Amino acid sequence: MKGIILAGGKATRLRPLTKITSKQLLPVYDKPMIYYPLETLLNAGIKDILIIIAPDYAGHFLNLLGSGRHFGARFNYEIQEEPRGLADAFIVGENFIGKDSVAMILGDNILDHDFSDAINSFKSGALGFVKEVPNASAFGVVEFDKNNKVISIEEKPEKPKSNFASVGMYVYDNRVIEIAKNLKPSSRGEIEITDLNNVYLKKGELKVGIIEGMWEDAGSFDSLLRASQIMQAKAKEMTD
Ligand code: G1P
Repeated sequence: MKGIILAGGKATRLRPLTKITSKQLLPVYDKPMIYYPLETLLNAGIKDILIIIAPDYAGHFLNLLGSGRHFGARFNYEIQEEPRGLADAFIVGENFIGKDSVAMILGDNILDHDFSDAINSFKSGALGFVKEVPNASAFGVVEFDKNNKVISIEEKPEKPKSNFASVGMYVYDNRVIEIAKNLKPSSRGEIEITDLNNVYLKKGELKVGIIEGMWEDAGSFDSLLRASQIMQAKAKEMTD
């Protein structure tokens, strides 16, 4: 299993914080943001990792993370020239993925969940994860039937059919590359991960797990601050 961290984009929502640096380099308590998704992959046993970054501050990521040796891993880097959507990670990452399966995590997603079992037992198809939230319409929303089978997945619906928000961690078999290449851009001009997941859903090959621990998509001022506060509280718990 290979791993991808998608840390592209311009993060205009976080200006002026992101005027002279990248969102994923901003501090979350005592570490740059990207350390958290990185640790999520490393803790799940994934050591071969592609970091996809925007051109503007690419050198900073290299200075910060290097070859991966210090993390006991191997890091590769690719530039995403334009933010073309989350599913674009599998097109940019085609050579890196090769013939393997791949786990993709968003560079601004901070999760406190051990994905090792899910990764180790993954065989084929697509695997997503959700968390119950009060504001599901800000995310991809997954609807389940009584037997926990996925019925629908919708991107930022006005009227969400459930409270289960899709978190920014996904696992796919190798077909993901071709599926991503065949997606049509959405109204916001991006190829959407939700459309990609819908292709797997139609084939009956999308599974979705529910996670319990904390989750923040640290892409807004409030969630960025919350993520820092949660990490500070956790660090205190450890030293008490
Ligand atoms: C993206 C996905 C969305 C998912 C979210 C998780 O949204 O499109 O389905 O719930 O990440 O962080 P974005 O952050 O691009 O608005």
